[in-house]
Amino acid sequence: MNPKDEFPEAYELCKRFMLGEDQMIEVIDRMTKEINMGLARDTHARSVIKCYVSHVQDLPTGQERGKFLALDLGGTHFRVLLVTLINDFETNIESKTYIMEKSLISGPGGDLFDFLAECLANFCKDHHVEGDNLPLGFTFSFPLRQNGLANGVLTAWTKGFSCDGVVGKNVVQLLEEAIARRKDLKINIVAILNDTVGTLMSCAYLSRNCRIGLIVGTGTNACYVEKTANAEMFQNYQTSSKPYMIINCEWGAFGDNGVLDFIKTPFDKLVDKQTPNVNRQTFEKCISGMYLGELVRLILIDLIGKGVLFKGHSSEFIFQKWSFQTSFISEVESDAPGQYRNASLVLDKIGVRQTTEFDKRCLRFICETVSTRAAKLTACGLVCLINKMNASDVTIGVDGGVYRFHPKFHDILVHHVSKLLRPGFHFRIVLSEDGSGRGAALVAAAAVSNKFTKE
Ligand code: GLC
Repeated sequence: MNPKDEFPEAYELCKRFMLGEDQMIEVIDRMTKEINMGLARDTHARSVIKCYVSHVQDLPTGQERGKFLALDLGGTHFRVLLVTLINDFETNIESKTYIMEKSLISGPGGDLFDFLAECLANFCKDHHVEGDNLPLGFTFSFPLRQNGLANGVLTAWTKGFSCDGVVGKNVVQLLEEAIARRKDLKINIVAILNDTVGTLMSCAYLSRNCRIGLIVGTGTNACYVEKTANAEMFQNYQTSSKPYMIINCEWGAFGDNGVLDFIKTPFDKLVDKQTPNVNRQTFEKCISGMYLGELVRLILIDLIGKGVLFKGHSSEFIFQKWSFQTSFISEVESDAPGQYRNASLVLDKIGVRQTTEFDKRCLRFICETVSTRAAKLTACGLVCLINKMNASDVTIGVDGGVYRFHPKFHDILVHHVSKLLRPGFHFRIVLSEDGSGRGAALVAAAAVSNKFTKE
């Protein structure tokens, strides 16, 4: 039976999530305009896709060697890594992950940076490198206006972070000050980079035609390789001897000026209202792991209220905001056709018992609707960048939990990029191997060997 007949009420709520090809083409066109505005000096100030210059101008050569430290901050976890680039094929990574408490994510910025410095100091002591002045690459996955490879000013927090006293500051300096306050550590911070850039670098190490780094995780974003001559916000864009510049799009903000209102649903507006950054990160809120579970939960609540689901019975848990994790969507959609084992387990986790097969089928339909739209919108973003580069054969490096763990995200993404791309264009999407760690080390390596000129 088709969903329209099988779940008429759910279908009614979900149909606005189902993007048609015309809408997708419109999204690509609008995004292209926004990217061009972000790149150009005259329009940058009023653009929403900021297209920040990363100051990374060289892709890895495969000759990078040595020992580097990397930090990875961008979500619920913070990681410290010791990366040894041994040869073309061998990288040794030792790392430790620290959980970010809620109080750190929304407390004073000073506490956040003291915590980062403390973790770094403990890690370095464990590995006996605290006095070695090792070069460090800092993967900091928030919007940064970069004034150099090791200078990045935070323009806004995203993904639920809201620490005071950091927006408008050079994050490298904040970390250096926190390290200096401790007096037990010698570190040389040589680069700060976005996770998309790390992802691109780590893939480009293996695939020479890798030109896009994509993240679909807690947040979403992409970077791509642009001609330096088009990167007008780079001070030396006309005189640089290096032909390319990696651009960190910060595409999560696409739509913050209303250009995506034509696809927004009432549920998108509800989710947005519950976030600390209302009216910001519109595109991200339709795609990324921080928000997809909540979209599903709000649709479920609506249907419970109408008496359509769970025979009107439900749990208190499901009425708690953010209680439906995005990983549940991946679990529900991992059931084989006609089977509902994972759906039952998920319903159990959210405290809803004695459900019918109808409930489970309907839950799956809702999950599919929300995740398919996310994959389609990501496809629009990729097509926009591939067209922008006019790259007829390109590899896209990708990372992030939604992409990694959702059983069909990759296939839906590939299907729609293929459909929307110009005829004769080819692409390949590959999973990045530890972009935030290895990628940061590669950027740091290039910085140290002075391949990055001090332009
Ligand atoms: C958010 C951040 C961006 C990051 C993305 C993925 O959109 O603003 O910098 O790349 O999440 O982690």
